[in-house]
Amino acid sequence: MRHFPDTFEYTGLNTPLGEEYEIGSLAVEGRIPADVDGVFFRAVPDPAFPPFTEDGGAILSGDGMVSAIRFAGGNVSCAMRYVQTERHQAEVAAGRALFGKYRNLYTDRPEAKGIDRTVANTTPVWHAGRLLMTKEDGRPYRVDPHSLETLGRHDFGGKLRSETMSAHVRIDPVSGELYFFGYEADGLASTKVAYCIADRDGNLTSEQWFDAPYCALMHDFAITENYALFPVYPTTCDAARVRAGGDHWVHEMGRESWVGVMPRQGDVAGMRWFKGPKGVSCFHMMNAFEDAEGRIQFDQCLASVNAFPFIQRASGLNVPPAEVGGRLARWTLDLRNGSEEVAETVIGPPGDFPLIPATRQGRPYTHAWMLSMNPEMQGPPVLGGPVGAMFNLLLRLDFTGRPPQALALPPGHCFNEPVHVPAASSQHEGWLITVVDQQTGPADFSHAVWILDAGNVAAGPVARIGIPHRLRPQVHGWWASAATLASAA
Ligand SMILES: [Fe+2]
Repeated sequence: MRHFPDTFEYTGLNTPLGEEYEIGSLAVEGRIPADVDGVFFRAVPDPAFPPFTEDGGAILSGDGMVSAIRFAGGNVSCAMRYVQTERHQAEVAAGRALFGKYRNLYTDRPEAKGIDRTVANTTPVWHAGRLLMTKEDGRPYRVDPHSLETLGRHDFGGKLRSETMSAHVRIDPVSGELYFFGYEADGLASTKVAYCIADRDGNLTSEQWFDAPYCALMHDFAITENYALFPVYPTTCDAARVRAGGDHWVHEMGRESWVGVMPRQGDVAGMRWFKGPKGVSCFHMMNAFEDAEGRIQFDQCLASVNAFPFIQRASGLNVPPAEVGGRLARWTLDLRNGSEEVAETVIGPPGDFPLIPATRQGRPYTHAWMLSMNPEMQGPPVLGGPVGAMFNLLLRLDFTGRPPQALALPPGHCFNEPVHVPAASSQHEGWLITVVDQQTGPADFSHAVWILDAGNVAAGPVARIGIPHRLRPQVHGWWASAATLASAA
């Protein structure tokens, strides 16, 4: 029997489950649209062994599980498996946890020495026929998309020099190229960032290193048709602090944010740094594009402070959720004049998990989706996930002047990040698939997959599929169509 601490990281919706299973046919309520034919891959952190250190960051250190919800001819099945990382295998062999605090190897047990610490728990990335389970503190693991069996670490055929790969990537919809980066590319607290491009066949064609203004938590980035953008917010790492057993990240309110901009196919020596406001934080960028005047518009789920409670604690901060200052912010970067400042316009409400049609990546776009908190909600939100409270409002934002659309969940319900499934018809916006959790008792939850009309989210789900197992909160997901799956390498 596993005994986890009676703390937020391991109780309620965050209770570790550790179940691997496969269910061949799930009951469907409603109608599965014909477009929804493929697999919704999900990354779910789930620690296999109770911790031996006290660590709020443990919420980000759970062993990666890969979940697949498969849609085929109206039948829905699901499967869940651990990613067999070196770390997970070593702990299974030892029968106990060997790794200490989040991203601090100096807190590990001696047996952990030399073993890759990454847990592959953040985003399932599909590119060039390969499914990669990623986490930004290491290299990804490749997983068989059919059996979910772990095939080993992926380093682009030995070509990747960076020790890390971002869990957020950008795929150009025209060229099919994969753009990603790795920060702390050569080790702890390093300012080295590797900027990488793989061609449509998955060959690493470019890896250039540059220095960030300081070592920062660089979770996501953006591309436009001609540029790559590297935002840097002041959640920083200090090697001496980590060596002393402290936290990897501290948020510095007095420090500037930055955005590095360079021609996407150019030399990192051409990077131009724009200065943003002090103290801000962002985990996910919605999109970026070049407007008719040639300026870069960069849209992001921005906050006035890092919202992670464990990072705030490590930073001596305690900002209540109501004062976090969240907004969908558009930063305009003008490359034509000498200004090195960004100009901010608020274009949407607070929230996170932004989503756009894959065809609009790096291009002007008319609409997007994101998760938010219902301001009119009666009662508290469902507690869980890394930030503490789960989102209960799904928004379709329109950038052409039409009003936003919202789907508010009833009390006791919450959303996990949706994926977008394009429609065969160009007249239809496609579909969103998301897992909805429902709290049914103090420590009881049920879960269902919802399919929504992406152009009419307010109408509620067109289909609901109950999952007869407990689920832990998902981080990110990825949609792979049946045709994409057929191209698996
Ligand atoms: Fe993320």
